[in-house]
Amino acid sequence: MSTDVMIHADNLTKMFGSVVALDRVSFDVHKGEVVGFLGPNGAGKSTTMRILTCFISPTSGTAKIHGHDVFEQPLEVRQKLGYLPQRAPLYSEMTVWSYLQFTARMRGLDEVEFKKRLRKVVEVCGLAQVLGKDIRTLSHGYRQRVGLGQALIHDPPILILDEPTSDLDPNEKAEVISYIREVGKERTVLLSTHNLSEVEAACARAIIVSKGRVVADGTLDDIRAKTGRIRYVVSVHEKMAEGSHQPPKAGEVQGALQTLKGISTVREIPSDDRAHGFELIVNGEHDIRPEIFRMIVDKGWTLLELHRDAQTLGDVFRDLTQGESRMARGLRSQVEDEEEEDSDDEGRDEDEEDSDDEDSDDDSKNEKKD
Ligand SMILES: Nc1ncnc2c1ncn2[C@@H]1O[C@H](COP(=O)(O)OP(=O)(O)OP(=O)(O)O)[C@@H](O)[C@H]1O
Ligand SMILES: [Mg+2]
Repeated sequence: MSTDVMIHADNLTKMFGSVVALDRVSFDVHKGEVVGFLGPNGAGKSTTMRILTCFISPTSGTAKIHGHDVFEQPLEVRQKLGYLPQRAPLYSEMTVWSYLQFTARMRGLDEVEFKKRLRKVVEVCGLAQVLGKDIRTLSHGYRQRVGLGQALIHDPPILILDEPTSDLDPNEKAEVISYIREVGKERTVLLSTHNLSEVEAACARAIIVSKGRVVADGTLDDIRAKTGRIRYVVSVHEKMAEGSHQPPKAGEVQGALQTLKGISTVREIPSDDRAHGFELIVNGEHDIRPEIFRMIVDKGWTLLELHRDAQTLGDVFRDLTQGESRMARGLRSQVEDEEEEDSDDEGRDEDEEDSDDEDSDDDSKNEKKD
């Protein structure tokens, strides 16, 4: 193992009774990296983070933080780590100042070191206005900042942050992400989130987990290129072009697009009442815009819009994890039954509520204060 590996997970497996929460999860995070840890609800992100931060032990596998084994050297590991759990446990009766002082003492900082660090943490986390306030009076966003503050107070080289921006408003989200970018300049960060634009803003690399397994690990560009598919959006005027006899019907345009070489799927998308709009997924890099253009001109139709883009991180995320989300909603795994999804809405809502309940129970049972 190279010496700049700050987080090392090796074949981590975790069983909760018969539930396989993690299935041989392995990855390394190197010094200075800010890595996004992605996956749908229940994929195993928090479980992995709890193992890495010595809160629970795995069923099998090993993990090291800064070269220290998380089971054999938990004290050394905790000194190197700042951890923000998914729901940060804060003492609501304490002021922000006294809470940060308390967490600093727990981590062995003396009063002089605490004051020095406090100045920095207040600046980086934007806590100056609330230092004297009771935590219970703070908005959720400020509580998250306090949570981030306690994770940073002992100046750890490694940060593990479990959904630091969940439930924040868009302004607060953007601020917390900019703090993470700022602190990440000098630290190694593993950051879980459901917000892909945050990963794009803060991380150069991402690890995607699904059903307890790592399904992608690489730079964002590598992950975007993973499916090797390109998307085109085409829209054709509903009126007839001059000189042609018949206005095109949607099915006719769709059928014609489907005959083009390399097309994987053609799907009608909403458009205004003047146009038929389609999304095409194409295998391979070859640019088929000229073929699309020529075919439409040959048919005597009028092209209103044509553009091509690579798959987004969100597309790849959905591709890699869709089976899991659909299973969680009690839906069949076939991809082609989108029309049927509407009729499943009722059952889906109930299932989602159930899983939320489970999640919060689970957190209150498992998160301890360190
Ligand atoms: N203490 C527990 N007891 C039983 N099952 C658990 C426990 N903790 C987690 N699980 C299960 O392990 C799996 C992974 O859960 P985990 O909390 O790690 O997912 P996650 O990726 O963090 O999801 P989310 O995005 O909802 O936070 C889920 O099936 C969950 O129900
Ligand atoms: Mg979680």
